[in-house]
Amino acid sequence: MLLRRALLAFGLLTSTATALEAKVGDEASVKKAADTVAYGLLKFYTGNNTGDVPGNLPDPYYWWVCGAMFGTMVDYWHYTGDSQYNDITKQAMVHQAGPDRDFMPKNQTLTLGNDDQGFWALAAMSAAEYVFPDPPADQPQWVAIVQAVFNEYTTRWDTQYCGGGLRWQIYNFNVGWDYKNSISNGCFFNLASRLARYTGNTTYAEWANKIWDWEEKIGLITKDYAVLDGVTIKDGAKCEDDMDKTEWSYNSGIFLHGSAVMYDLTKDQKWRTRVDGLVEHGLQKFGKDNIAFEQLCEPHGTCDDNQRTFKGYWLRWLSATIQLIPDLHDKIWPLLKGTAEAAASICIGTPTHTIAKHPPFKGMAGTACGFKWNPPKVFDDSFGVGEQMSALSALIYTLVKDSDAPKTNSTGGTSIGNPNSGSRSDDEKIRVFAPITTGDRVGAGILTTLIIGGVLGGCAFVVI
Ligand SMILES: *[C@@H]1O[C@H](CO)[C@@H](O)[C@H](O)[C@H]1NC(C)=O
Ligand SMILES: *[C@@H]1O[C@H](CO)[C@@H](O)[C@H](O)[C@H]1NC(C)=O
Ligand SMILES: *[C@@H]1O[C@H](CO)[C@@H](O)[C@H](O)[C@H]1NC(C)=O
Ligand SMILES: *[C@@H]1O[C@H](CO)[C@@H](O)[C@H](O)[C@H]1NC(C)=O
Repeated sequence: MLLRRALLAFGLLTSTATALEAKVGDEASVKKAADTVAYGLLKFYTGNNTGDVPGNLPDPYYWWVCGAMFGTMVDYWHYTGDSQYNDITKQAMVHQAGPDRDFMPKNQTLTLGNDDQGFWALAAMSAAEYVFPDPPADQPQWVAIVQAVFNEYTTRWDTQYCGGGLRWQIYNFNVGWDYKNSISNGCFFNLASRLARYTGNTTYAEWANKIWDWEEKIGLITKDYAVLDGVTIKDGAKCEDDMDKTEWSYNSGIFLHGSAVMYDLTKDQKWRTRVDGLVEHGLQKFGKDNIAFEQLCEPHGTCDDNQRTFKGYWLRWLSATIQLIPDLHDKIWPLLKGTAEAAASICIGTPTHTIAKHPPFKGMAGTACGFKWNPPKVFDDSFGVGEQMSALSALIYTLVKDSDAPKTNSTGGTSIGNPNSGSRSDDEKIRVFAPITTGDRVGAGILTTLIIGGVLGGCAFVVI
């Protein structure tokens, strides 16, 4: 192993590396590499096994990562045309939409944050925009689900603290209820902008404006377009008193893409200024030698299972920005290209060890993707859903074409909406789905604390 790595480092051993070498610009080679990486990713998925629950990944992967994974698979199909995973993708999304058709299945109640619900909704929105096959009429429809999530978000907008914003958590018994974070509000913003564009309904655009203005006003989006993680809210405290100023690539990306959508929709220069600012800051912060990296934890080798997925989403939203604003191609492309080549060059692992409490890699030998893309060609012995999904993202998002703008309801989209979906309130859900006694509630809180204390759960409540 060591010898192999040393040889690879000196470029003396290239036989395995070339197996996956993706020549960016040569579509066929990129698609071939993506096919191999996707195979390794979906081998982690067990939700389609008899007796298992569609949409779930095995421990320790959180439910929201499953939503992110199926969002990536919608994009995978869109960019490569490979439909072999469409059935399990559709099955997972329809099942996890749950009885209220809003991505709030009862089973997730004890850890369900606005961002968790949001990442599944992002997948459904992409399905609508890329005209992913619609479920049969008696099943939940992509846009209607997103509208349900949007409607529920509006009921959770909280003006008592910091003058607005969504809290991280949906239920007050979950840890993180007192935190307002950029990713939850970013999901709201991103979905609002895309619903505005897809449906033409201006209510969604008004919300997108309102969410951006709030993020900026309280300083979560700074003057130089850093997107900070979040604020802890407390009685008697000012909003800025307890701010977590860490920067994660996905927070930057989710606001970038929503802003690009708003610019496409309105052609208002203020959105263009924001897009330009977010691109500029993001490339400086999360790009090094034209290769994406998670600056906060990657250099220290401390990124957890959640954080090892973030870079892939940033790439997703950078490429989606090019679709909508083609003149940004030349600015963003070098990073996408450099990243894809570097990421593919380290999908050469044959993990000889297992990682405690993680499922093993079951893809083809010599094709496991590592986490650190820089330096290229050195497999860092890190493997898993995040590594595999991010490398897949790196590859497929180089297939972006500016002629390929997402569809809307009037330009070929087929998903049927329902502006009134998602009408059951959170309180009522708790009563109907999960009658929770005071004893249970305390128990639930403690359980969540233990989970979060133990493995830094959730998606953004992270201190390095
Ligand atoms: C589930 O899907 C994966 C990925 O396509 C596939 O490898 C596996 O064989 C499927 N399992 C079943 C039971 O169909
Ligand atoms: C919730 O869990 C039960 C028991 O494992 C399972 O049968 C059901 O499909 C799950 N529901 C969802 C929406 O995941
Ligand atoms: C798209 O337009 C059609 C026809 O006006 C309408 O029936 C449908 O609900 C619309 N879909 C959405 C998502 O707004
Ligand atoms: C626009 O969206 C809002 C918010 O969901 C809804 O109340 C309204 O009915 C929608 N308007 C139309 C014409 O669909």
